[in-house]
Amino acid sequence: MACQLLGSRGLRAFYVKFVVLMVPQELIEKVKEFAYSQTKKYEAPITLYLDLANEKGQELAKLLKADKDIVLAGTLLMDCMLGTALKEGRLPEHIEMSAQKAKELLDEFPKVDKKTKENILYCVRQHHGVDKFHSLEAEICCNADCYRFASVEGVIAGIRYTRDMPLDDLVNLFLKKADEKWNALSLDICKKELEPQYKLIKDFLTAYK
Ligand SMILES: [Fe+2]
Repeated sequence: MACQLLGSRGLRAFYVKFVVLMVPQELIEKVKEFAYSQTKKYEAPITLYLDLANEKGQELAKLLKADKDIVLAGTLLMDCMLGTALKEGRLPEHIEMSAQKAKELLDEFPKVDKKTKENILYCVRQHHGVDKFHSLEAEICCNADCYRFASVEGVIAGIRYTRDMPLDDLVNLFLKKADEKWNALSLDICKKELEPQYKLIKDFLTAYK
């Protein structure tokens, strides 16, 4: 019925308008402001990591036809309390802490529908990987996160910010994180792109030992 009334072009315009309205720009601005204020305050995650995951998330969302706004909210929020968690010695809790903060921020937008908010929260809660993702958006956030430690760019950026660490610890940390993120990858397109980089990272860091 809607097709008959609007025609294919009208329906597409209606659909685009509807999707844009699901995640208002003010929400994106709000979470962006919070996420970047945290990286500025704690350098965790570092700004480059936040940028990297946001850019990769958008690239994948476009390619796989996912909701770009939900993915952006997800990549911005997925580690938004990492700095606080590190400061308080609660690193393993950073996912739940970030999800709680994300919920708090999302609750400031009562007009945003429940399903959209739920999807964003799953993007945060599943960003380290799960057997079955809640949505394509959640899967994209997890894969975008992997570029922080399984790509050459991510590793170089990370080493720059951990250069005061004893060398043995630094090498062990980046080897461990590279394996962790390689194993968390689920999208074939990302595995294909990162496989040669992951091997280079492993060879390079293992050569130190
Ligand atoms: Fe994380």
